[in-house]
Amino acid sequence: MSRHSSVRRVTMRDLQVRTDKGQPWTMVTAYDALTAGVIEQAGVPTLLVGDSAAMVVHGHDSTIPITVDEMLPLVSAVVRGTEQALVVADLPFGSYQEGPAQALATSARFMKEAGAHAVKLEGGHSVLPQIEALAGAGVPVIGHLGLTPQSVNLLGGYRVQGRGESGQRLLQDAKALESAGAAAVVLEVVPADLAASVTEVLSIPTIGIGAGAATDAQVIVWQDLLGLTPDPAPRFVRRYANLREVMAGAVSSWVHDVETRSYPAEEHTYA
Ligand code: KIV
Repeated sequence: MSRHSSVRRVTMRDLQVRTDKGQPWTMVTAYDALTAGVIEQAGVPTLLVGDSAAMVVHGHDSTIPITVDEMLPLVSAVVRGTEQALVVADLPFGSYQEGPAQALATSARFMKEAGAHAVKLEGGHSVLPQIEALAGAGVPVIGHLGLTPQSVNLLGGYRVQGRGESGQRLLQDAKALESAGAAAVVLEVVPADLAASVTEVLSIPTIGIGAGAATDAQVIVWQDLLGLTPDPAPRFVRRYANLREVMAGAVSSWVHDVETRSYPAEEHTYA
């Protein structure tokens, strides 16, 4: 987009303004240009190129294996496929934990090589130096607390986080992320009352996934939203379509038409 275009990208500041006005907003994952364009057209202001790509694009059973080099082309595609959405690149496991210099170098690649407008990383107190360095360098950075899938081996599975005493620790982590300069915080699979308390005490937006209705925004993986991932879906997912059924039905009709020579027909044929 040129500096003089009438269309401009959503900014983190716009999302903060919506939050300040008490207007809930949405973030959906995207990993390719066409899908990103459709989601943007549907009115979603923020697209997350999540490391969930490891699972829904690359077929791994966790988010851990995906690399920066595998994610860069997905981020570029989402940026190219959209005009107005803020595109957030998720920093994959191993690309920021070493410290601020590594986090800054990885974020710079996502911004310079792929055009990302913001980054997201997982963790609480242990990543405060990274958050400070990124915010200090002018990079909008989103934190991620609760069920942090990159730590699945430590957490012992994809289970609810922040119940009981650990809720207080999560609340302290959220405050610390805000003080360090985070622009927003994702809260994944935590009790709704904890997410409500975090939302109450923070000024920056909270973005919930399996965190109840009180957060400032909601984020969802598009394949969960539209029914492409197989059942059973996690409890927090409401399916708004059944793409598995639609796609399987359409492809099997095409197979039938080819096998019975009813496709291609006259109108699909060149003289
Ligand atoms: O990778 C991802 O898609 C995410 C969202 C589920 C928040 O981190």
